[in-house]
Amino acid sequence: MNQIRAAITGVAGYVPEYVLNNAELEQMVDTTNDWILSRTGISERRILKGEGMGSSEMAVKAVNDLLAKTNTLPNDVELLICATVTPDMQFPSTANVIADKCGIKDGFGFDISAACSGFIYSLVTASKFIETGLYKKVVVVGVDKMSSIINYQDRATCVIFGDGGGAVMLEPSTDGNGIVDSILRSDGAGRSFLNQKAGGSAYPASIETVTNQEHYVHQEGQTVFKFAVNNMADVAAKIMERNNLTADDVAWLVPHQANKRIIDATASRMGLSEDKVIVNIQKYGNTTNGTLPLCMWEWEKKFKKGDNLILAAFGGGFTWGSIYLKWAY
Ligand code: UT7
Repeated sequence: MNQIRAAITGVAGYVPEYVLNNAELEQMVDTTNDWILSRTGISERRILKGEGMGSSEMAVKAVNDLLAKTNTLPNDVELLICATVTPDMQFPSTANVIADKCGIKDGFGFDISAACSGFIYSLVTASKFIETGLYKKVVVVGVDKMSSIINYQDRATCVIFGDGGGAVMLEPSTDGNGIVDSILRSDGAGRSFLNQKAGGSAYPASIETVTNQEHYVHQEGQTVFKFAVNNMADVAAKIMERNNLTADDVAWLVPHQANKRIIDATASRMGLSEDKVIVNIQKYGNTTNGTLPLCMWEWEKKFKKGDNLILAAFGGGFTWGSIYLKWAY
């Protein structure tokens, strides 16, 4: 029998309706459209509004759409993994909330926390369940409501992030398509440069943590930028090299959307022309775990069966990684 690979057989995405554009941000903090566009490539981002609306609200829309698109009954889903840094609650997992709201009652689920690399970590984890031959339908979600942990008085972070997410269906394939290779890395020494300090067991929520604004994202942008450029480009180039792929062989780069300059540096290291690089950062900003599924969702119709895709991401932790997959439909 041919080797079983985990193939993406469907993708869906969701972004909330509210558009927060650079002009509105100019009214909120000391910034300009020119600065944001030239330093990040972002024009606007989406914000999920409404009391009690968590990340699962967006994920449920994407997963329901995915189930419909792939003709999957909820109870045929055996496992749902959710990559997020903005879970609805500390526990139980958001995967469980999504599964319940989508009627997925005959499987199990869990969350993966790896900041902006969470979707890549989750896809690789999910692929291992499929490759054993024991699991036939696994849903992987990447979603974040970054607006719930952003300080809209901090111009260094509030211009970057947005809300949104998506989901993919993974199924076994024996025709050579699916996930071929992956590289995952992390370095906890980077934790001080990008984090949400309070709310965990080290600094539980208190009057002081709220007063000190420690429940918001803290990012030392320049340092993170340097690590992101080097590490994301490194793994993307390495996965090409060890699979003997030239730039001509690669149909698409699906990069984490943190900063257009980081995306450009990665593509240039891989020797890819601009037309092979998926970019939607201008519309959605950095949706953390949402960026990769949102990219695949928007480009789905352009992908062809057998196309070589390279996924690459870098995030807090630090975490980073890359996946080489062959598009399956
Ligand atoms: O998602 C996963 C991981 N995250 C990333 O990969 C993000 C990596 N970092 C970045 O993308 C960039 O570092 C940022 C977009 C966050 C910042 O861009 P930068 O070119 O690194 O700017 P900077 O932090 O070096 O700041 C340059 C200047 C500073 O002013 P001075 O000190 O030169 O006077 C900042 O205070 O720009 C100022 N500044 C702003 N000015 C206008 C910072 N934020 C803003 C702003 N509007 N929003």
